[in-house]
Amino acid sequence: MSSKTLIIAGNWKSNKTNAEITSWFGGLKECSKDGLAHTEGKKLIICVPFPYLARAKQLAADLPFTLEIGAQNVSPYGFGAYTGEVTAEMISEYAGYVIIGHSERRAKFHEDNAVLDEKVIRAKVAGLEPIFCIPDENTEVPQGVKIAAYEPVWAIGTGKADTPENADGVITSIKNKWHVSTVLYGGSVTGENINSFITSPGIDGVLPGKASLSPEGYWEMIVNATVSET
Ligand code: PGA
Repeated sequence: MSSKTLIIAGNWKSNKTNAEITSWFGGLKECSKDGLAHTEGKKLIICVPFPYLARAKQLAADLPFTLEIGAQNVSPYGFGAYTGEVTAEMISEYAGYVIIGHSERRAKFHEDNAVLDEKVIRAKVAGLEPIFCIPDENTEVPQGVKIAAYEPVWAIGTGKADTPENADGVITSIKNKWHVSTVLYGGSVTGENINSFITSPGIDGVLPGKASLSPEGYWEMIVNATVSET
């Protein structure tokens, strides 16, 4: 019997100061005294704002379990005259993952399929694993994406999560339609509802925003997520 590796990828969005980050990692270390067995069979990722990538990597190395670092965006360009952009190569010095296509970037920064395709290509060339977000099964997932996240816009930050049954159905359609092996659910995931999602057969993990902002909230999700044998 084997079990699927469950992904819990927190997304801090555009939040936190340097001091708050230090305290988040300190708090998480404290929480983990509760028992490292809770982290077994789980791939833990935290996606942080660009200025904190290096610090987060350093602080994560001091934890008694593996917490991987992700970014929340990437430039669709390489090195060069692109003032303000952060390239995939730069990110890959500190992180293994990058969120691409989050609905906040699609809506507020007008990112379209062409730009998102380019971001995925750049990320993959630099060795970053994209976590590609889509609001439904009809939204294109670029070729080569291994991890996608189904995030219905109405469930993001509203406290009104999708039902596990509906999320499981949409995720199964995404897997079939876009040939993605791993699909997460995101949208108002908490320590209270995490288990109802990850025990659904098609759902490979979660992408929580708000609930990952406090170390206690992130740890609670780790503890409450039971890894099922398959
Ligand atoms: P939320 O955010 O958990 O705060 O709803 C999820 C996301 O936007 O990825």
